[in-house]
Amino acid sequence: MTVTASASPSLALIKYWGKLPEGVNLPASSSLAVTLEGLRTVTRVTAKSEASGGSEDVVEVEGIHRSLEPYRALLDHFRERAGRTDRVRVVSTNSFPTSAGIASSSSGFAALALALNAFYGTGLPPSDLSAVARLGSGSAARAVYGGFTVWTAGSDRAEPVLPPDHWPELRIVVAVLDTAPKPISSRAGMTRSRDTSPVYSTWLAESDRLFREGTRALEQRDIEALGEAMRASYLLMFSTMLTATPPFIYWLPASVAILREVEAMRADGIPAWETMDAGPQVKIVTTDDHVDRVRGRLLAAVPDASIIVARPGGEPEVVSSES
Ligand code: PMV
Repeated sequence: MTVTASASPSLALIKYWGKLPEGVNLPASSSLAVTLEGLRTVTRVTAKSEASGGSEDVVEVEGIHRSLEPYRALLDHFRERAGRTDRVRVVSTNSFPTSAGIASSSSGFAALALALNAFYGTGLPPSDLSAVARLGSGSAARAVYGGFTVWTAGSDRAEPVLPPDHWPELRIVVAVLDTAPKPISSRAGMTRSRDTSPVYSTWLAESDRLFREGTRALEQRDIEALGEAMRASYLLMFSTMLTATPPFIYWLPASVAILREVEAMRADGIPAWETMDAGPQVKIVTTDDHVDRVRGRLLAAVPDASIIVARPGGEPEVVSSES
């Protein structure tokens, strides 16, 4: 049997950064996110034959064999539920750079959860898929839904809050600046921030307030209020990295050039606010009527950037299932 599923990455407008000490990938802060239609992970799960070494799973991402460790919890979870022991081959590709801070792990584990659910016939509803996808990567809990999502501090699953057509003209312009994999995984970075940064508790307290402000702004489609909350969220998140021991930074000079350009755009009356994740790429939230100007100014500031324009959407789906 072969099942193919696809999912889009979940971009946090208000960030998740830091886990509770207990449980697996339980967030210490509440996040608010949008699933990005325009970027896609496609994951194929195939039955392994005895001839191809049927006793071990195999995972291949972008043509490279991966360690099974991050995938084991998901694979075992579905097998246990189904009462089966048969192993699978997983082949996954992204339409955008992998492990470079564009949330490929969110779409990757969401697509894998959907594909395994169909492959093993477990029939889990989206809410349970969210809890299981979380075992692979926290942000994947949000990527099992399209549109706008929240993941509340301490919760084992995310939930959808608003459909994509709540704000159809919203656009997310991704400036891809460097596609090398990140120097430190978000998992290791979060632990270091939590365990060593003196501003971590401030981040958590502020994050709670920003989550409420961001949610209200999203409900009211108030891009300025959303932009301000977004910016405060990612800058506070990064402040826990800069003040960790040892400190770490994902930004490149080109990232800073983009941040300055976005600030200059706002000064010129263009509604554009940026956010960043565990990588050097910058994501700019704006509206459809400003996309061309935003793209032109980003390219003038950093000519070799690649620009991807995404919109709210990205419902994950099982694309095909063949026995
Ligand atoms: O899902 P993880 O463990 O890769 O963590 C994602 C963390 C951020 O992308 C930086 C923020 C977020 O809320 O997605």
